[in-house]
Amino acid sequence: MTPAGRTDPFPLYAAAHELGPVSVLADDSFVVCGYAAVNQVLREPGFGLATTTPPDSGTGALRLMNRSILRANPPDHGRMRSLISKVFTPRRVADLQPASEAAVDDLLRQLSDAATGGTTDFMDRVAFPLPVTVIGELLGVPPGDRRRFRPLAADLTDALELSGDTSTSADAAARELAGYFAPLIGERRAAPGDDLVSALARDAGDGRLSDEELLANLILLLVAGFETTTNLLGNGLAILLNRPELTAAPRAGHIPIAGFIEEVLRYDSPVQAVNRRAHRDGLTVAGVSIPEGSDLIQLIGAANRDPARYNDPNRFDPTRTDIRPLSFGAGAHICVGNNLARLEAAVAFPKLLSRFPDLSAASDRIPIRRDRLVLRGYQTLPVQITPRL
Ligand code: HEM
Repeated sequence: MTPAGRTDPFPLYAAAHELGPVSVLADDSFVVCGYAAVNQVLREPGFGLATTTPPDSGTGALRLMNRSILRANPPDHGRMRSLISKVFTPRRVADLQPASEAAVDDLLRQLSDAATGGTTDFMDRVAFPLPVTVIGELLGVPPGDRRRFRPLAADLTDALELSGDTSTSADAAARELAGYFAPLIGERRAAPGDDLVSALARDAGDGRLSDEELLANLILLLVAGFETTTNLLGNGLAILLNRPELTAAPRAGHIPIAGFIEEVLRYDSPVQAVNRRAHRDGLTVAGVSIPEGSDLIQLIGAANRDPARYNDPNRFDPTRTDIRPLSFGAGAHICVGNNLARLEAAVAFPKLLSRFPDLSAASDRIPIRRDRLVLRGYQTLPVQITPRL
Protein backbone atom coordinates (compact mmCIF):
# COMPACT_ATOMS: atom_id res chain seq x y z
CA MET A 1 0.00 0.00 0.00
CA THR A 2 3.04 2.28 -0.28
CA PRO A 3 3.38 4.61 -3.28
CA ALA A 4 6.13 2.35 -4.69
CA GLY A 5 3.93 -0.70 -4.20
CA ARG A 6 1.03 0.97 -5.93
CA THR A 7 3.22 1.99 -8.86
CA ASP A 8 4.63 -1.49 -9.35
CA PRO A 9 2.84 -4.15 -7.29
CA PHE A 10 4.11 -7.04 -9.40
CA PRO A 11 7.31 -7.87 -7.46
CA LEU A 12 5.15 -7.93 -4.31
CA TYR A 13 2.66 -10.24 -5.99
CA ALA A 14 5.52 -12.57 -6.94
CA ALA A 15 6.64 -12.56 -3.30
CA ALA A 16 3.05 -13.27 -2.19
CA HIS A 17 2.90 -16.30 -4.50
CA GLU A 18 6.03 -17.64 -2.80
CA LEU A 19 4.16 -17.56 0.51
CA GLY A 20 1.22 -19.51 -0.92
CA PRO A 21 -2.22 -18.79 -2.39
CA VAL A 22 -3.68 -17.52 0.91
CA SER A 23 -1.88 -15.59 3.66
CA VAL A 24 -3.15 -14.29 6.96
CA LEU A 25 -2.23 -10.77 8.11
CA ALA A 26 -1.57 -9.50 11.62
CA ASP A 27 -5.15 -8.18 11.91
CA ASP A 28 -6.53 -11.68 11.11
CA SER A 29 -7.67 -10.66 7.65
CA PHE A 30 -6.58 -12.72 4.64
CA VAL A 31 -4.82 -11.93 1.39
CA VAL A 32 -5.72 -14.26 -1.45
CA CYS A 33 -3.38 -14.18 -4.46
CA GLY A 34 -3.59 -17.64 -6.10
CA TYR A 35 -5.66 -17.90 -9.29
CA ALA A 36 -7.65 -20.95 -8.16
CA ALA A 37 -8.12 -19.51 -4.68
CA VAL A 38 -9.40 -16.11 -5.90
CA ASN A 39 -11.69 -17.88 -8.35
CA GLN A 40 -13.06 -20.06 -5.55
CA VAL A 41 -13.70 -17.18 -3.12
CA LEU A 42 -15.51 -15.16 -5.79
CA ARG A 43 -17.73 -18.09 -6.74
CA GLU A 44 -18.46 -19.57 -3.34
CA PRO A 45 -21.77 -18.35 -1.83
CA GLY A 46 -20.33 -18.48 1.72
CA PHE A 47 -18.28 -15.39 0.88
CA GLY A 48 -20.13 -12.13 0.37
CA LEU A 49 -19.79 -8.39 0.51
CA ALA A 50 -19.12 -6.56 3.73
CA THR A 51 -21.58 -3.72 3.93
CA THR A 52 -21.55 -1.22 6.75
CA THR A 53 -23.94 -2.08 9.57
CA PRO A 54 -26.43 -0.62 10.08
CA PRO A 55 -26.79 -0.09 6.31
CA ASP A 56 -27.75 3.56 6.74
CA SER A 57 -24.48 4.50 8.37
CA GLY A 58 -21.43 5.78 6.54
CA THR A 59 -20.77 8.81 4.46
CA GLY A 60 -22.75 9.79 1.38
CA ALA A 61 -20.52 8.05 -1.16
CA LEU A 62 -20.22 4.84 0.85
CA ARG A 63 -23.93 4.78 1.61
CA LEU A 64 -24.67 5.18 -2.08
CA MET A 65 -22.31 2.36 -3.11
CA ASN A 66 -23.70 0.14 -0.37
CA ARG A 67 -27.17 0.54 -1.85
CA SER A 68 -25.97 -0.65 -5.27
CA ILE A 69 -25.69 -4.15 -6.71
CA LEU A 70 -21.90 -4.06 -6.30
CA ARG A 71 -22.14 -4.27 -2.52
CA ALA A 72 -25.40 -6.23 -2.22
CA ASN A 73 -25.75 -9.72 -0.75
CA PRO A 74 -28.52 -12.27 -1.33
CA PRO A 75 -31.43 -11.95 -1.67
CA ASP A 76 -31.14 -8.26 -2.70
CA HIS A 77 -28.25 -9.03 -5.05
CA GLY A 78 -30.19 -11.59 -7.09
CA ARG A 79 -33.20 -9.28 -7.35
CA MET A 80 -31.11 -6.35 -8.60
CA ARG A 81 -28.98 -8.51 -10.87
CA SER A 82 -31.95 -10.03 -12.69
CA LEU A 83 -33.54 -6.60 -13.16
CA ILE A 84 -30.33 -5.12 -14.54
CA SER A 85 -29.57 -8.16 -16.74
CA LYS A 86 -33.06 -7.96 -18.18
CA VAL A 87 -32.41 -4.48 -19.57
CA PHE A 88 -28.61 -4.49 -20.02
CA THR A 89 -28.74 -7.28 -22.60
CA PRO A 90 -26.11 -8.51 -25.11
CA ARG A 91 -28.38 -7.02 -27.79
CA ARG A 92 -28.25 -3.59 -26.14
CA VAL A 93 -24.46 -3.83 -25.98
CA ALA A 94 -24.23 -4.89 -29.64
CA ASP A 95 -26.43 -1.94 -30.55
CA LEU A 96 -23.78 0.36 -29.08
CA GLN A 97 -21.22 -0.70 -31.72
CA PRO A 98 -22.06 2.06 -34.26
CA ALA A 99 -22.07 4.72 -31.53
CA SER A 100 -18.71 3.42 -30.25
CA GLU A 101 -17.22 3.53 -33.75
CA ALA A 102 -18.47 7.05 -34.34
CA ALA A 103 -17.10 8.15 -30.95
CA VAL A 104 -13.68 6.61 -31.64
CA ASP A 105 -13.47 8.20 -35.11
CA ASP A 106 -14.37 11.56 -33.67
CA LEU A 107 -11.89 11.31 -30.78
CA LEU A 108 -9.05 10.14 -33.05
CA ARG A 109 -9.70 13.12 -35.31
CA GLN A 110 -9.44 15.38 -32.27
CA LEU A 111 -6.32 13.53 -31.11
CA SER A 112 -4.55 14.35 -34.31
CA ASP A 113 -5.82 17.96 -34.30
CA ALA A 114 -4.55 18.39 -30.73
CA ALA A 115 -1.10 16.99 -31.42
CA THR A 116 0.60 20.34 -31.51
CA GLY A 117 4.26 19.73 -32.16
CA GLY A 118 3.40 16.05 -32.50
CA THR A 119 2.64 15.42 -28.79
CA THR A 120 -0.69 14.93 -27.05
CA ASP A 121 -2.19 13.03 -24.12
CA PHE A 122 -4.01 9.81 -24.99
CA MET A 123 -5.77 9.65 -21.60
CA ASP A 124 -7.18 13.14 -21.87
CA ARG A 125 -8.12 12.88 -25.53
CA VAL A 126 -9.36 9.30 -25.90
CA ALA A 127 -9.22 7.01 -22.86
CA PHE A 128 -11.31 9.25 -20.57
CA PRO A 129 -13.89 10.59 -23.06
CA LEU A 130 -14.64 7.32 -24.92
CA PRO A 131 -16.19 5.29 -22.07
CA VAL A 132 -18.18 8.24 -20.74
CA THR A 133 -19.55 8.89 -24.24
CA VAL A 134 -20.60 5.26 -24.67
CA ILE A 135 -22.12 4.97 -21.20
CA GLY A 136 -23.85 8.30 -21.75
CA GLU A 137 -25.35 6.77 -24.89
CA LEU A 138 -26.40 3.64 -22.97
CA LEU A 139 -27.98 5.57 -20.12
CA GLY A 140 -29.52 8.17 -22.40
CA VAL A 141 -27.67 11.09 -20.83
CA PRO A 142 -27.68 14.13 -23.15
CA PRO A 143 -24.24 14.61 -24.78
CA GLY A 144 -23.79 18.10 -23.33
CA ASP A 145 -24.06 16.77 -19.76
CA ARG A 146 -21.40 14.06 -20.10
CA ARG A 147 -18.34 16.27 -19.64
CA ARG A 148 -19.14 17.03 -16.04
CA PHE A 149 -19.05 13.33 -15.12
CA ARG A 150 -15.32 12.89 -15.47
CA PRO A 151 -14.23 14.70 -12.27
CA LEU A 152 -17.29 13.45 -10.39
CA ALA A 153 -16.69 9.82 -11.32
CA ALA A 154 -13.00 10.16 -10.44
CA ASP A 155 -13.93 11.51 -6.99
CA LEU A 156 -16.65 8.94 -6.37
CA THR A 157 -14.40 6.00 -7.20
CA ASP A 158 -12.51 6.82 -4.00
CA ALA A 159 -15.37 4.91 -2.42
CA LEU A 160 -14.30 1.83 -4.39
CA GLU A 161 -10.77 1.82 -2.98
CA LEU A 162 -10.06 -0.76 -0.31
CA SER A 163 -9.68 1.41 2.78
CA GLY A 164 -13.43 1.97 3.15
CA ASP A 165 -12.70 5.64 3.94
CA THR A 166 -14.01 8.17 1.54
CA SER A 167 -12.97 11.73 1.08
CA THR A 168 -15.27 14.69 1.35
CA SER A 169 -14.88 15.11 -2.41
CA ALA A 170 -16.30 11.59 -2.89
CA ASP A 171 -19.30 12.56 -0.78
CA ALA A 172 -19.73 15.81 -2.68
CA ALA A 173 -19.56 13.89 -5.98
CA ALA A 174 -22.17 11.42 -4.71
CA ARG A 175 -24.49 14.30 -3.83
CA GLU A 176 -23.99 16.02 -7.16
CA LEU A 177 -24.57 12.83 -9.18
CA ALA A 178 -27.69 12.05 -7.14
CA GLY A 179 -28.86 15.62 -7.79
CA TYR A 180 -28.34 15.03 -11.51
CA PHE A 181 -29.95 11.59 -11.84
CA ALA A 182 -32.98 12.05 -9.54
CA PRO A 183 -34.75 14.53 -11.87
CA LEU A 184 -33.63 12.54 -14.95
CA ILE A 185 -35.43 9.47 -13.52
CA GLY A 186 -38.56 11.58 -13.08
CA GLU A 187 -38.34 12.84 -16.66
CA ARG A 188 -37.89 9.34 -18.12
CA ARG A 189 -40.77 7.98 -16.08
CA ALA A 190 -42.98 10.68 -17.54
CA ALA A 191 -41.63 10.27 -21.09
CA PRO A 192 -39.73 6.97 -21.50
CA GLY A 193 -37.07 6.64 -24.21
CA ASP A 194 -35.12 3.66 -25.53
CA ASP A 195 -32.39 4.00 -22.88
CA LEU A 196 -31.32 2.24 -19.71
CA VAL A 197 -32.57 4.92 -17.33
CA SER A 198 -36.07 4.60 -18.84
CA ALA A 199 -35.92 0.79 -18.81
CA LEU A 200 -34.82 0.58 -15.17
CA ALA A 201 -37.18 3.33 -14.06
CA ARG A 202 -40.06 1.39 -15.57
CA ASP A 203 -39.19 -1.67 -13.47
CA ALA A 204 -38.79 0.49 -10.40
CA GLY A 205 -42.28 1.78 -11.04
CA ASP A 206 -43.49 -1.76 -10.35
CA GLY A 207 -41.91 -1.43 -6.94
CA ARG A 208 -39.06 -3.85 -7.48
CA LEU A 209 -36.12 -1.45 -7.16
CA SER A 210 -36.61 1.20 -4.53
CA ASP A 211 -36.01 4.76 -5.69
CA GLU A 212 -32.79 4.85 -3.69
CA GLU A 213 -31.59 1.57 -5.21
CA LEU A 214 -32.41 2.82 -8.69
CA LEU A 215 -30.41 5.98 -8.12
CA ALA A 216 -27.48 4.07 -6.60
CA ASN A 217 -27.38 1.57 -9.48
CA LEU A 218 -27.55 4.20 -12.20
CA ILE A 219 -24.67 6.07 -10.62
CA LEU A 220 -22.79 2.79 -10.20
CA LEU A 221 -23.27 1.97 -13.89
CA LEU A 222 -21.78 5.34 -14.73
CA VAL A 223 -18.72 5.07 -12.49
CA ALA A 224 -18.14 1.29 -12.79
CA GLY A 225 -18.02 1.47 -16.54
CA PHE A 226 -16.02 4.64 -16.77
CA GLU A 227 -12.62 4.62 -15.14
CA THR A 228 -12.22 0.85 -15.46
CA THR A 229 -12.60 1.00 -19.24
CA THR A 230 -10.43 4.12 -19.36
CA ASN A 231 -7.73 2.08 -17.63
CA LEU A 232 -8.08 -0.84 -20.03
CA LEU A 233 -7.46 1.55 -22.93
CA GLY A 234 -4.55 3.32 -21.23
CA ASN A 235 -2.88 0.18 -19.90
CA GLY A 236 -3.19 -1.46 -23.31
CA LEU A 237 -1.68 1.45 -25.16
CA ALA A 238 1.16 1.76 -22.62
CA ILE A 239 2.04 -1.88 -23.30
CA LEU A 240 2.08 -1.23 -27.04
CA LEU A 241 4.23 1.88 -26.69
CA ASN A 242 6.80 -0.01 -24.65
CA ARG A 243 6.97 -2.82 -27.17
CA PRO A 244 7.15 -1.35 -30.67
CA GLU A 245 7.63 -4.85 -32.10
CA LEU A 246 4.08 -5.60 -30.93
CA THR A 247 2.27 -2.71 -32.55
CA ALA A 248 2.88 -4.14 -35.99
CA ALA A 249 1.37 -7.52 -35.19
CA PRO A 250 -2.21 -6.59 -34.25
CA ARG A 251 -2.23 -3.92 -36.94
CA ALA A 252 -1.31 -6.41 -39.59
CA GLY A 253 -3.88 -8.83 -38.20
CA HIS A 254 -1.13 -11.22 -37.02
CA ILE A 255 -2.53 -11.13 -33.51
CA PRO A 256 -6.30 -11.29 -33.17
CA ILE A 257 -7.38 -8.18 -31.34
CA ALA A 258 -9.49 -10.25 -28.92
CA GLY A 259 -6.39 -12.13 -27.72
CA PHE A 260 -4.52 -8.88 -27.32
CA ILE A 261 -7.30 -7.40 -25.17
CA GLU A 262 -7.54 -10.50 -22.96
CA GLU A 263 -3.79 -10.39 -22.40
CA VAL A 264 -3.91 -6.67 -21.50
CA LEU A 265 -6.64 -7.49 -19.00
CA ARG A 266 -4.51 -10.29 -17.54
CA TYR A 267 -1.19 -8.50 -17.54
CA ASP A 268 -2.27 -5.11 -16.19
CA SER A 269 -5.75 -5.53 -14.77
CA PRO A 270 -7.75 -2.27 -14.52
CA VAL A 271 -9.21 -3.57 -11.25
CA GLN A 272 -6.48 -5.03 -9.06
CA ALA A 273 -8.42 -6.20 -6.02
CA VAL A 274 -11.87 -6.85 -4.58
CA ASN A 275 -13.05 -7.43 -1.01
CA ARG A 276 -15.07 -10.23 0.48
CA ARG A 277 -16.16 -11.31 3.97
CA ALA A 278 -16.72 -14.87 5.20
CA HIS A 279 -20.43 -15.07 5.98
CA ARG A 280 -20.35 -18.46 7.64
CA ASP A 281 -18.00 -20.77 9.48
CA GLY A 282 -16.32 -23.86 8.08
CA LEU A 283 -14.98 -22.26 4.89
CA THR A 284 -11.62 -23.43 3.58
CA VAL A 285 -9.55 -21.93 0.77
CA ALA A 286 -6.39 -23.67 -0.46
CA GLY A 287 -6.30 -25.65 2.76
CA VAL A 288 -6.54 -22.54 4.96
CA SER A 289 -9.59 -22.37 7.18
CA ILE A 290 -11.33 -18.99 7.18
CA PRO A 291 -13.36 -18.16 10.30
CA GLU A 292 -16.78 -16.51 9.94
CA GLY A 293 -16.55 -12.71 9.83
CA SER A 294 -13.02 -12.68 8.36
CA ASP A 295 -12.23 -10.11 5.70
CA LEU A 296 -10.37 -11.22 2.59
CA ILE A 297 -8.65 -9.18 -0.10
CA GLN A 298 -8.67 -10.94 -3.46
CA LEU A 299 -5.64 -9.76 -5.42
CA ILE A 300 -6.99 -10.14 -8.95
CA GLY A 301 -3.85 -8.56 -10.40
CA ALA A 302 -1.74 -11.21 -8.65
CA ALA A 303 -4.07 -14.10 -9.54
CA ASN A 304 -3.71 -13.11 -13.18
CA ARG A 305 0.05 -13.58 -12.82
CA ASP A 306 -0.02 -16.79 -10.82
CA PRO A 307 2.88 -19.00 -11.98
CA ALA A 308 0.74 -22.03 -11.11
CA ARG A 309 -1.80 -20.89 -13.73
CA TYR A 310 0.29 -19.21 -16.44
CA ASN A 311 3.69 -20.08 -17.85
CA ASP A 312 6.11 -17.20 -17.50
CA PRO A 313 3.30 -15.01 -16.06
CA ASN A 314 5.26 -11.75 -16.15
CA ARG A 315 5.71 -11.92 -19.91
CA PHE A 316 3.16 -10.13 -22.07
CA ASP A 317 2.12 -12.62 -24.72
CA PRO A 318 -1.11 -12.05 -26.65
CA THR A 319 -0.70 -15.41 -28.39
CA ARG A 320 -1.29 -17.39 -25.19
CA THR A 321 -3.94 -19.99 -25.85
CA ASP A 322 -5.72 -20.15 -22.51
CA ILE A 323 -6.11 -16.61 -21.21
CA ARG A 324 -8.95 -16.36 -18.72
CA PRO A 325 -8.17 -13.34 -16.60
CA LEU A 326 -10.15 -12.72 -13.45
CA SER A 327 -10.17 -9.00 -14.24
CA PHE A 328 -13.97 -8.85 -14.46
CA GLY A 329 -14.34 -10.95 -11.31
CA ALA A 330 -16.17 -14.28 -11.24
CA GLY A 331 -19.31 -15.81 -9.80
CA ALA A 332 -22.45 -13.91 -8.84
CA HIS A 333 -20.92 -10.42 -9.09
CA ILE A 334 -19.06 -10.93 -12.38
CA CYS A 335 -18.96 -7.65 -14.24
CA VAL A 336 -22.25 -6.72 -15.88
CA GLY A 337 -20.44 -4.55 -18.42
CA ASN A 338 -17.62 -6.89 -19.49
CA ASN A 339 -18.92 -7.19 -23.05
CA LEU A 340 -19.27 -3.46 -23.36
CA ALA A 341 -15.72 -2.85 -22.12
CA ARG A 342 -14.38 -5.45 -24.57
CA LEU A 343 -16.40 -3.90 -27.40
CA GLU A 344 -14.97 -0.43 -26.75
CA ALA A 345 -11.40 -1.74 -26.69
CA ALA A 346 -11.98 -3.87 -29.79
CA VAL A 347 -13.19 -0.78 -31.66
CA ALA A 348 -10.55 1.61 -30.32
CA PHE A 349 -7.26 -0.29 -30.73
CA PRO A 350 -7.52 -1.30 -34.40
CA LYS A 351 -8.70 2.18 -35.42
CA LEU A 352 -5.93 3.81 -33.39
CA LEU A 353 -3.23 1.61 -34.89
CA SER A 354 -4.39 1.97 -38.45
CA ARG A 355 -4.93 5.71 -38.27
CA PHE A 356 -1.57 6.42 -36.58
CA PRO A 357 0.91 3.81 -37.82
CA ASP A 358 3.79 5.81 -36.35
CA LEU A 359 2.23 6.40 -32.92
CA SER A 360 4.94 6.29 -30.24
CA ALA A 361 5.63 7.39 -26.67
CA ALA A 362 6.33 11.13 -26.43
CA SER A 363 10.00 11.74 -25.92
CA ASP A 364 9.61 14.92 -23.87
CA ARG A 365 6.97 13.88 -21.31
CA ILE A 366 6.72 10.75 -19.22
CA PRO A 367 3.51 8.83 -18.46
CA ILE A 368 2.11 9.33 -14.95
CA ARG A 369 0.17 6.62 -13.18
CA ARG A 370 -2.82 7.37 -11.00
CA ASP A 371 -1.83 6.75 -7.40
CA ARG A 372 -4.44 4.11 -6.70
CA LEU A 373 -4.42 0.58 -5.40
CA VAL A 374 -7.64 -0.88 -6.78
CA LEU A 375 -8.26 1.02 -10.02
CA ARG A 376 -4.94 0.75 -11.82
CA GLY A 377 -4.30 3.08 -14.70
CA TYR A 378 -2.68 6.23 -16.03
CA GLN A 379 -3.41 9.85 -15.33
CA THR A 380 -1.46 10.94 -18.39
CA LEU A 381 -0.03 8.96 -21.28
CA PRO A 382 1.70 11.36 -23.68
CA VAL A 383 1.99 10.15 -27.24
CA GLN A 384 3.80 11.38 -30.31
CA ILE A 385 2.08 11.61 -33.66
CA THR A 386 3.98 12.53 -36.78
CA PRO A 387 1.77 14.86 -38.79
CA ARG A 388 0.86 13.42 -42.16
CA LEU A 389 2.16 15.46 -45.04
C1 HEM B 1 -18.67 -5.54 -11.41
C2 HEM B 1 -14.33 -4.92 -13.47
C3 HEM B 1 -16.39 -2.30 -17.03
C4 HEM B 1 -20.56 -2.40 -14.62
C5 HEM B 1 -17.33 -5.65 -11.70
C6 HEM B 1 -16.38 -6.46 -10.97
C7 HEM B 1 -15.16 -6.26 -11.53
C8 HEM B 1 -15.33 -5.35 -12.63
C9 HEM B 1 -13.85 -6.89 -11.08
C10 HEM B 1 -16.71 -7.39 -9.79
C11 HEM B 1 -16.60 -6.71 -8.45
C12 HEM B 1 -16.73 -7.70 -7.31
O1 HEM B 1 -16.80 -8.93 -7.51
O2 HEM B 1 -16.74 -7.25 -6.14
C13 HEM B 1 -14.52 -4.15 -14.61
C14 HEM B 1 -13.47 -3.84 -15.56
C15 HEM B 1 -14.05 -3.11 -16.57
C16 HEM B 1 -15.46 -2.96 -16.24
C17 HEM B 1 -12.01 -4.28 -15.42
C18 HEM B 1 -13.42 -2.51 -17.80
C19 HEM B 1 -12.32 -2.93 -18.34
C20 HEM B 1 -17.71 -2.14 -16.72
C21 HEM B 1 -18.70 -1.48 -17.55
C22 HEM B 1 -19.87 -1.49 -16.84
C23 HEM B 1 -19.62 -2.19 -15.59
C24 HEM B 1 -18.43 -0.89 -18.93
C25 HEM B 1 -21.22 -0.91 -17.18
C26 HEM B 1 -21.49 0.00 -18.03
C27 HEM B 1 -20.39 -3.25 -13.54
C28 HEM B 1 -21.43 -3.52 -12.56
C29 HEM B 1 -20.89 -4.43 -11.64
C30 HEM B 1 -19.52 -4.68 -12.06
C31 HEM B 1 -22.85 -2.96 -12.55
C32 HEM B 1 -21.58 -5.03 -10.42
C33 HEM B 1 -22.08 -6.42 -10.71
C34 HEM B 1 -22.58 -7.13 -9.46
O3 HEM B 1 -22.19 -6.77 -8.35
O4 HEM B 1 -23.38 -8.09 -9.63
N1 HEM B 1 -16.67 -4.99 -12.73
N2 HEM B 1 -15.69 -3.60 -15.04
N3 HEM B 1 -18.31 -2.56 -15.56
N4 HEM B 1 -19.26 -3.96 -13.20
FE1 HEM B 1 -17.52 -3.86 -14.19
